[in-house]
Amino acid sequence: MKYFITGGSGFIGSHLSQELMRQGHDIITIDNFNDYYDPLLKEKNYEDVKKTAIKYSCFFKLYKGDIRNKELISSIFNDHQIDGVIALAANAGVRPSIEDPLYYVDVNLVGLTILLETMRNNDVKSLVFVSSSSVYGNNKKVPFNEKDEVDNPISPYAATKKAGELLCYTYHALFDINVACLRYFTVYGPRQRPDLAINKFTRLMLEGKSIPMFGDGTTARDYTYVSDIVDGTIKSLNYVMQKDKHIYDIFNLGGSHPISLKDLISTIGEVVGVKPIIEQMPMQPGDVNITYSDFSHAKEVLDYNPKIRINEGIQRFVKWYREETKL
Ligand SMILES: NC(=O)c1ccc[n+]([C@@H]2O[C@H](COP(=O)([O-])OP(=O)(O)OC[C@H]3O[C@@H](n4cnc5c(N)ncnc54)[C@H](O)[C@@H]3O)[C@@H](O)[C@H]2O)c1
Repeated sequence: MKYFITGGSGFIGSHLSQELMRQGHDIITIDNFNDYYDPLLKEKNYEDVKKTAIKYSCFFKLYKGDIRNKELISSIFNDHQIDGVIALAANAGVRPSIEDPLYYVDVNLVGLTILLETMRNNDVKSLVFVSSSSVYGNNKKVPFNEKDEVDNPISPYAATKKAGELLCYTYHALFDINVACLRYFTVYGPRQRPDLAINKFTRLMLEGKSIPMFGDGTTARDYTYVSDIVDGTIKSLNYVMQKDKHIYDIFNLGGSHPISLKDLISTIGEVVGVKPIIEQMPMQPGDVNITYSDFSHAKEVLDYNPKIRINEGIQRFVKWYREETKL
């Protein structure tokens, strides 16, 4: 198969591209290498993906460009017979979305609509849209289930993800596009975005710096190791590729074992081998109290079965981080 992945040089997109290649697929990606974090890290991800393409003799092409460039997206679909699409490109950050909501709406929703329109015009019928656990806002009921109401997002980022799910539904209903919307619960592992907690805390500890802890440390996150996310994403891709079925579905992809911020910091400290110096700060607007996935729907329909628990995942991450940075 030939798959088109947006945001293919990012953290998750690069892992997903590599795994699909290992499974024998051809991959086309687009990425604008924006400076939300150091674009050199994305260049490195791209180089790694390229090596995998050579190793497995897959067709691989990266388009350096913006998903909001209608002509470019259209030319990609004209130039290639695309079998399915995975939409990962987005502005992914809760706190910055409060500073610049228009930019988030532009990339996450205008960009998505251009993609959906192009799929419609080219008769491409299978899409995996990557949403987020942040759509649950401060949902009081745990664990979070896909049937819970998600009408109270507390950041523009979360609102764009929820709106993205709705747009996908509209294209499914009108144009028969099969869609799986995936609500990822905080993803970590090698290449994790430097703005995310595990990467940031590891870096600060290895540099002997203090850890800013927002709130009293009792907020909790359900962390998902990147290989489990990639596995769930590919299973959902195979699911929407069934041409004889009419599919719109939403799946939580999480680990279902939330860990408090305090415990996360001390676990990283143990693995890194330092006693963390904590600097307590006020809670940040937009941050939710807890994320906690009920992934029974993904398990039942996709056979999603995450394997890596947080302690092992942090060990793997820190090992990778030390090799990369020589710290
Ligand atoms: N990492 C997580 O914990 C997490 C959790 C929930 C959802 N998600 C979602 O998963 C997806 C991937 O996240 P990630 O952590 O890999 O982030 P990432 O920033 O590493 O990857 C996103 C990639 O998209 C690219 N991109 C952004 N805007 C673009 C545009 N306008 N045109 C072309 N390319 C563009 C970026 O350059 C980047 O390489 C995002 O949609 C994010 O919202 C991530």
